[in-house]
Amino acid sequence: MTVKTESTQLFKEIMGSYPTGVTVITTVDSNNKPVGLTVNSFASVSLDPLLILWSIDKNAGSCDVFKKVDKFSVNILAGNQQEICWTFSSKSEQDRFSKQPWSLSKNKLPILENVFASLECKKVQFIEAGDHYILIGEVIDLNKNEQEPMLYFRRKVGSVPEQWE
Ligand SMILES: Cc1cc2nc3c(=O)[nH]c(=O)nc-3n(C[C@H](O)[C@H](O)[C@H](O)COP(=O)(O)O)c2cc1C
Repeated sequence: MTVKTESTQLFKEIMGSYPTGVTVITTVDSNNKPVGLTVNSFASVSLDPLLILWSIDKNAGSCDVFKKVDKFSVNILAGNQQEICWTFSSKSEQDRFSKQPWSLSKNKLPILENVFASLECKKVQFIEAGDHYILIGEVIDLNKNEQEPMLYFRRKVGSVPEQWE
C-alpha cells in the first residue's frame, strides 16, 4: 500500500466516524425534472447573510445539473427517514422521487415531506476543490417541522438517542 492509499483509507475511517446529520439536496433540471442526492457534507457558514455549504463529487450523476442551476433546497432528514437516505444515494434507483411524498415550493424547489427542516437557497458560489465542488448557498426560505433530525455514524443512520446530555 502506498503512503497516499494508506492516508486515504485513514482519512475515510476518521471522517466516516465523525457523526453528522443527513440531508437530501434537491433542485429541478432544465426539463423541470426533480433531481436530488443524499449529502452529509452540509454545514452552516454565516449568519449575516445566512449562508450554508455542501460539496458534490465531480463524478456524481447530478453534478452538471447543480453546476447549472441557480438554486437548490437542503432537506434535513428526520430520524425515521432512513429509507430516503438510501434511496437518494443509490445509483440503481431510477426514480428517487416516486418513493416518498414531496411538493414544489413557491420557489419551485422540491421539498420532501416530513423532513426535520428545509433550507431553500440561492447558489452564490461554486468552487472547485480537489475531486469535489463546494456549493455555497444563501438561505432564501426556511421551515422546521416537529421531527427530530437523523444522525449518521459509521455508515449507519438513526435517531437522536432519548438519553442525551
Ligand atoms: C450518508 C451519505 C452521505 C453522502 N454525502 C455525499 C456528499 O456530501 N457529497 C456527494 O457528492 N455525495 C455524497 N453521498 C453519495 C451520494 O448520495 C451518491 O453518490 C448518489 O448516488 C449521487 O447521486 P447522483 O449520482 O444522482 O448525483 C453520500 C451518501 C451517503 C449515504
